[in-house]
Amino acid sequence: MPSRLAIRHFPDSILRRVSEPVRTVDRQTRIFIDQLIKFMKCQPGGIGIAAPQVGVPRQIAIVDASAKVPGAKLLVLINPVITTFEHEAIFREGCMSLPDFTANVRRAEKIKFEWRDIHFKKQEHITSGLEARCVQHEIDHLNGFLFVDRVVSLKTDVFRRKRYL
Ligand code: NI
Repeated sequence: MPSRLAIRHFPDSILRRVSEPVRTVDRQTRIFIDQLIKFMKCQPGGIGIAAPQVGVPRQIAIVDASAKVPGAKLLVLINPVITTFEHEAIFREGCMSLPDFTANVRRAEKIKFEWRDIHFKKQEHITSGLEARCVQHEIDHLNGFLFVDRVVSLKTDVFRRKRYL
């Protein structure tokens, strides 16, 4: 595990790998998860991060939509899998690994997903809206996908971020 975390940017090849499933949550893994949560919280507007984004190709992601979704909790997602996709919505997304772009991305509006928590206990949950979108975005990272892979048209659906210098 890296001692200091740094974000990997597109086109770093680690962002295209399928991350390894976690088999046990040992002390090292817990330390890494704490680092990942702290790192995410330092990023402006950061509501999710996946381990490969900091160079660790393991099936671990953090989602915390609580700043925008009342009642949402910070989720530590280990080996997460989406089991049901319902409805569709298009929404503007960004990603720390592609800091210069945002895009209109089509995803399921409502999902059912399961994962292992920090105690390696199986969890299952249904969510919708922003949290569902974030879970899908982060699980994509664990499978080597980026949000730009999900746009209908690179020409009309991807936008360069305005720079405030
Ligand atoms: Ni991302």
